[in-house]
Amino acid sequence: MAEPDQPSTARMIDFWLGGGHHFPVDVAAARAFEGAYGPCAAIFRSLRDFLGRAVRAIADDGVDGFLVFGAGVPTRGNVHEVAPEATVLYTDVDPVTIRLGQRLLADSDRAGYGFGDATDIGTIDPAQLHRFVPGWGRRPVGVVFLGLAAFLDDATLARTLDELYEAVAPGSVLAVDFDSEELAAHPQALAMMGPAFRMRAPAAFAPLLGRWQPTDDGIVPVARWRAEGPPEPVPDAFLGGIARKPAP
Ligand SMILES: C[S@@+](CC[C@H](N)C(=O)[O-])C[C@H]1O[C@@H](n2cnc3c(N)ncnc32)[C@H](O)[C@@H]1O
Repeated sequence: MAEPDQPSTARMIDFWLGGGHHFPVDVAAARAFEGAYGPCAAIFRSLRDFLGRAVRAIADDGVDGFLVFGAGVPTRGNVHEVAPEATVLYTDVDPVTIRLGQRLLADSDRAGYGFGDATDIGTIDPAQLHRFVPGWGRRPVGVVFLGLAAFLDDATLARTLDELYEAVAPGSVLAVDFDSEELAAHPQALAMMGPAFRMRAPAAFAPLLGRWQPTDDGIVPVARWRAEGPPEPVPDAFLGGIARKPAP
């Protein structure tokens, strides 16, 4: 696959997770970010472990179809690996990451990868949506919205989450996270994330969930969310949880 000109946060995460699906430009950006912030591998391991616990919790509720936004690289404990009985549609807007994902999932009949702008679910190919998330709009599904909130302003994020709430069937569950104000103490690292990057305080994030109802676990530092043992000692860079569209 041709070397992209620009790094991607998703492929930098693959590098930090010890994966093999990134390019030299991603490694250079990951190393520069670590130079400005500090080591990142443990933070992203803990974030991926949270994804695993959240997706398993949703699958344990009987949900067997997942739609993933801003999916990044579909390996290293990603949705179809932690919920192997489920069907999964991964979506992203980055063409290089989408091609990588499509190559990785080429032999799978349970997981697919396509273009999808989270802010407009109409951009998802309906054939892919109905194949991998059967009963979309009629049966409860899992919506995975991780690593994305930081790239959307408040109005866009609130509208997007509300449109998703409207689109899914009652009983559906959202896995969501947001970036804390951790990078405020690391201005050089913050600058590397670009001017559109948004950090949020918990009180600022809560109203953006709109009608989605967080479970009693709350929206907490991801290492603490239903931790199976002592939480990993990582900075509270991400807060997250799951939230439901209640069944009638
Ligand atoms: C920080 S990465 C997170 C990747 C993955 N969710 C994870 O946790 O490892 C953010 C991803 O969101 C994608 N992205 C950014 N804006 C998006 C949008 N409007 N809709 C869908 N994906 C988007 C980027 O291309 C990138 O792959």
